Amino acid sequence: MAERIEVLLTEEEIDRRIQEIGDQISRDYAGRQVHMVCVLKGGSFFMCELAKRVTVPVSIDFMSVSSYGGDTKSSGVVRIVKDLDEPLKDRHVIVIEDIVDSGRTLSYLLDMLRSRGAADVRLCTLLDKPDRRVVDVKVDYTGFEIPDEFVVGYGLDYDQKYRNLPYIGMVKFE
Ligand code: IMP
Ligand code: MG
Repeated sequence: MAERIEVLLTEEEIDRRIQEIGDQISRDYAGRQVHMVCVLKGGSFFMCELAKRVTVPVSIDFMSVSSYGGDTKSSGVVRIVKDLDEPLKDRHVIVIEDIVDSGRTLSYLLDMLRSRGAADVRLCTLLDKPDRRVVDVKVDYTGFEIPDEFVVGYGLDYDQKYRNLPYIGMVKFE
């Protein structure tokens, strides 16, 4: 099926918002170290940009869970594909996500990370589709609330394509 990409959020809008979130995190975590946990692959572009704008000390780690295949529907199945390299004990963790959609992936992941003895675990997502929520998850930092559209770019893919777009676009199927 052919698809067309329509711009939803420009690179400039995203940059500005990431700076604001970075400032907020720097204030909220003053005097502490933040441990950013990136959910691969989608969260990686956002985490790099955000981490550069945070002024308190930052350490990073990565994990990968499977939730979507080549389709645009959530499978509801969450599997850890790559676990973290370092323990979370006593750390101030911020989970960095590209998007919260049904909330299924995050709800599972946050419970799992909280059971590992972190001092606290917060959630930061670039995008949130509140209309699509099935499982309740508390989001601490949100870049943008967006309508129920399938989006790509800034780390988000459609069938592994378009992650490298510097903006967020809506996928329109012809
Ligand atoms: P959830 O478990 O339904 O909240 O799914 C979250 C994951 O689904 C995200 O981390 C993305 O990897 C993927 N996802 C959800 N919506 C979109 C979208 O609009 N574009 C690309 N990936 C999406
Ligand atoms: Mg993701």
